[in-house]
Amino acid sequence: MATDAKGEPLVGRRIILGVTGGIAAYKSAELCRRLVGAGAEVHCVMTEAATKLVGPITFEALSGNPVGLDAFASSEPGAIEHIRLASLGELVVVAPATASFMARYASGLAEDLLGALLLATKAPVLLAPGMNTNMWEHSATQANAALLRQRGARFVGPEEGDLACRTRGVGRMAEPDRILEAAEAALAPQDLVRMKVLVTAGATREALDPVRFLSNHSTGKMGFALARAAASRGAKVVLVSGPTSLPTPLGVERVDVLSAEEMASAVLGRSRSQDVIVKAAAVTDWRPATPAPRKLKKGPGGGAERLILERTPDILASLGGSRRGGRPILVGFAAETGDPTAEAERKLEAKGCDLVVGNDVTAEGAGFGADTNRVVIVGRGGPPEQLPLASKATIAHALWDRVATLLVSPPRARSKEGVGRARGRSGTNRRSKA
Ligand code: PMT
Repeated sequence: MATDAKGEPLVGRRIILGVTGGIAAYKSAELCRRLVGAGAEVHCVMTEAATKLVGPITFEALSGNPVGLDAFASSEPGAIEHIRLASLGELVVVAPATASFMARYASGLAEDLLGALLLATKAPVLLAPGMNTNMWEHSATQANAALLRQRGARFVGPEEGDLACRTRGVGRMAEPDRILEAAEAALAPQDLVRMKVLVTAGATREALDPVRFLSNHSTGKMGFALARAAASRGAKVVLVSGPTSLPTPLGVERVDVLSAEEMASAVLGRSRSQDVIVKAAAVTDWRPATPAPRKLKKGPGGGAERLILERTPDILASLGGSRRGGRPILVGFAAETGDPTAEAERKLEAKGCDLVVGNDVTAEGAGFGADTNRVVIVGRGGPPEQLPLASKATIAHALWDRVATLLVSPPRARSKEGVGRARGRSGTNRRSKA
């Protein structure tokens, strides 16, 4: 990343937020708030039509910066405003981008501040169209969108949904969260382009009977942050996830699974075509040897007192034991209660990984469900790397930084896959210590 590769993706990034005259302009106020909340320095520019829908003072208050309205006014003495903003911005986001704005931009019109700065900037441009379905589908708008794409503009949305004109269809501006995610991707280093990455996330569930299951507290946040960060850096990402209500990150293919067995088949079936596999999922380690076909009764003799558990397949060990030539690069996690370093080092060897990320799930702000984590990354040929408490997004980027260096280093220098190969087995693994 241009600023800090291990930092939050938007911290300190200078973003020009262009707002044009669509009803969704009110949602751009929230987008502005979210961008600022993510640490970006936001400078808003509004078209005249946009100011009829939302007052510039709203954007000024939310961004903490003056709002650009007039191509002939200057916020700094002697500065030519559209040139100043064009060179200041690392990214220009236009949300909403109306049909009329897109037509002007596609024609290269510089008749207002936003149009002029868009012609003058070398920064990437992200458009979030928002308009009536018929307007979006009109051949003129489609031709403009195609031309703008061809010239390098990125698009997020429009999405299908209820529209301000009381109809339903495609044309709804993407939600602020989605635009934020697309902005992250537009600014991220593209060091994982063409890489095929598989990430696992969340908890698996092992049925005791048709109504109950064994599981754990994983929410999927860590794995989803990893998938989102990899996709933003250009990777083609498959996310194999246990049950969670988290939204699928932009551009990520998601495969939902329930049990360890389902996760094993989803992961092992795809492993040969991956460049990297990161196993952040908390796979439930045991399952009933024989799940009850009917609900277990609570009374004496109901069956619960005789539950016999067996180990679930150790997916990570199978991966470590079956790969060849150092591919895919294999990253495991170690969820511990206490200092995770020693266990992470043991799992690195036992499961034939290239890296293991250890976390103490009992530490404040770390582990299950938290938005932050505190991890140690252990690898080969160097000391453990202890990362400070940080958001899961930051941890994810730091891990991809490490993986990116492995992707360019020769496999022979780092591979100890024979260890895992000797120990891992496909399918069920009943070793006493995972
Ligand atoms: O999802 P969140 O709420 O954000 O929480 C994040 C997290 C705490 C779940 C995550 O940071 C984490 O630690 N994930 C790994 C949890 C885990 O199962 O750790 P483990 O030490 O039990 O397993 C070691 C490794 O083997 C893991 O990579 C795990 O995916 C893998 N494994 C474990 C058992 C099994 N049967 N098959 C496996 O592949």
